[in-house]
Amino acid sequence: MKGFFITMEGCEGSGKSTQLKLLAQKLNAAGVDYILTREPGGSEIAERIREIILDGKNTAMCDECEALLYAAARVQHIKEKILPALAEGKLVVCDRYIHSSLAYQGAARGLGREYIETINSYAIKNCRPDLTIFLNIPPERAFERKHGADEDDRIEQMGLAFHQKVYKGYLDLIGDYPEFTPVDCSGTKFETSDKIWQLLKGRGIVGG
Ligand code: TYD
Repeated sequence: MKGFFITMEGCEGSGKSTQLKLLAQKLNAAGVDYILTREPGGSEIAERIREIILDGKNTAMCDECEALLYAAARVQHIKEKILPALAEGKLVVCDRYIHSSLAYQGAARGLGREYIETINSYAIKNCRPDLTIFLNIPPERAFERKHGADEDDRIEQMGLAFHQKVYKGYLDLIGDYPEFTPVDCSGTKFETSDKIWQLLKGRGIVGG
C-alpha cells in the first residue's frame, strides 16, 4: 500500500520546527512508521544544492536560477527518498515542498504561479502531497513572538516586506490547492499541535 505524503509550510518564525518536533513525538508514541525529511535538502546531492541556494555570498543569483535549483533539489530528493519511502507504505512528513516555491519564488520573487508549476511539473510529476499543513500566522506576529529571542533571525535579515509577500502568496493558494490546509496558530504550541493531530486523524492518516 502506498504511504501518505504530508508537507508542512509556513513563513519564517511560524513555529514550523517546533510543530514538526511535536508531531514527531506524537507519531513515535503512536508507533507510526514514518520518515521526517526537509527541503531544500533531504538527500546528499540535494543538501549540496541547498548550500548553493542559501549561501549568503551568492548575491548575484537570479530568481529563475533560484527557482530551478529548488526544483532540481526537489526531484533528487523525491527519487532518492520520498518515492522509496512511500512505496514501502511509510508516512512521509516533509518540511516545505512545492508550496514554498509557489509562495517564495512565485509570489514574493514575482515569477508567477505558472512559471513555478511548469518547472515543477518536470521535477515532481504526480508526486503531490496528500495533505499540506499551512501554519497560518502573519509574519509580523511571528516576528513579534520571536523578537529579542534570536537576533540573527532571517525575518530581520530579509525584511518584513518580503515575508508579507510570502504570506500573501501562501494565502492565495487556499482554495486553489485542495491539499493546502491552513491551521490557525493563535493558540499555544500545544493547541496548534493538537489541531494538526486531529487533522491527521480526520484524514485517516493516523489511527485512534
Ligand atoms: P531553512 O533554514 O530550512 O528555513 P525554515 O526553517 O524557515 O524552513 O531554509 C529554507 C529556506 O528556503 C526558507 O527561507 C524558505 C526557502 N525556500 C524557498 O524559497 N523555496 C522553496 O521551494 C523551498 C523548499 C524553500
